[in-house]
Amino acid sequence: MSTTASSVSAFTASTRAQMTKLSSTAAVVMAAEKLRSQGVKVIDLGVGEPDFPTPDHIKDAAKQALDENFTKYTSASGIAPLRKAICDYMNSNFGSDYIPEQCCVVLGGKQGIFNATLALIDPGDEVLLENPCWVSFPEIVHFGEGKVIPVDTESTDFHLTAEMVKAAITPKAKLIIINSPSNPTGRVIDPAEYRKIIEVAVENGLWVISDECYLQFVYPPHEVNSAAALTPELRSRVLIAGSLSKTYAMTGWRVGFTLGPQDWVTEVIKIQSQSATHAASIAQKAAIAALTQSQQSVKTMLAEYQRRADWFIPALNTVSGIKCGKPEGAFYAFPNIKGLMANCGFATSKEAADELLLKYGVVTTAGSAFGAEGYLRLSYANSLAAIQEAVERIKQMVADRAK
Ligand SMILES: Cc1ncc(COP(=O)(O)O)c(C=O)c1O
Repeated sequence: MSTTASSVSAFTASTRAQMTKLSSTAAVVMAAEKLRSQGVKVIDLGVGEPDFPTPDHIKDAAKQALDENFTKYTSASGIAPLRKAICDYMNSNFGSDYIPEQCCVVLGGKQGIFNATLALIDPGDEVLLENPCWVSFPEIVHFGEGKVIPVDTESTDFHLTAEMVKAAITPKAKLIIINSPSNPTGRVIDPAEYRKIIEVAVENGLWVISDECYLQFVYPPHEVNSAAALTPELRSRVLIAGSLSKTYAMTGWRVGFTLGPQDWVTEVIKIQSQSATHAASIAQKAAIAALTQSQQSVKTMLAEYQRRADWFIPALNTVSGIKCGKPEGAFYAFPNIKGLMANCGFATSKEAADELLLKYGVVTTAGSAFGAEGYLRLSYANSLAAIQEAVERIKQMVADRAK
């Protein structure tokens, strides 16, 4: 039987797919690409990844895996030596006692959060999210047909507190996702407050995902902290979503992990086994080298981020209408640009970001993409020279708009 174009109905995406937005950060990347192809010298402060290469010893481990033909399927949960390396790393750094059965290797932190959320929530369940937060959290909740309960943190300069969490808990709340250091705000929750937040969540029957993607990128006097440092009772309700992407400049390798209650992780593994199957075998070997060998590259990157922030934040504060606090972790500045918007006649942060991109070739991300109007997210995972040039261009825009 032949089919004609007219007898076949047009493709209609599922309701679930229609509800899922293309990442707004991905949309910015596409716009910047277009400008570059037109010969514009674009400065990218939109990037959410280290501007450093993956360290050589990690690449060598991957090359060796290839030479040894380590190129076949692995178990869905990841290879045993990597699961052990992940547990050893967290246990030795934070005094926990995770065992490999509590660990699933995933394809980056994002997939870990995706699998863990889908393993937990049913349609209609409510999920507390800090607002502003990373763009993927609400989308993942929507994909699971859950409802987002935003916990607004603007009043405390984006520091989540136990009090705020307590006030936001609803009868249908099942999960809270916490992200410290935070993308987009660069805020770090101090260990005592972090423990109180988890206590409040657990007392109220919530489960917790602790997104520790930027775990090691914390600027003193703030402290590196993990859910792994909690008591075993509290840890029994918390799943850590870890990632090697930022820590070891391995964004393209797609390796992360979920670590937490065995029942929860078992469900994560089940979902993994029916979707991605497992993280790439070669990347898993590289991840063992990353976690078990020298950690010097992490220190070097952190020192460089600090050096850039030390120049960048004071420079931003010299721009009329911008107020920017010091980042405490990650590699993002999150300036308040409400004054700049008023001075320059922008109704929204998206308008400001679009003008900066299209007229001045500076890629930024509007705060509204993360749920906070009146802010911009500026990544300093770019060279100091590029950051300096970007500040000049921002000043130029302000001067031009004032004319
Ligand atoms: C807050 C946060 N969590 C998780 C991720 C996921 O990173 P990956 O999937 O590369 O590990 C990112 C990436 O930008 C992030 O910013």
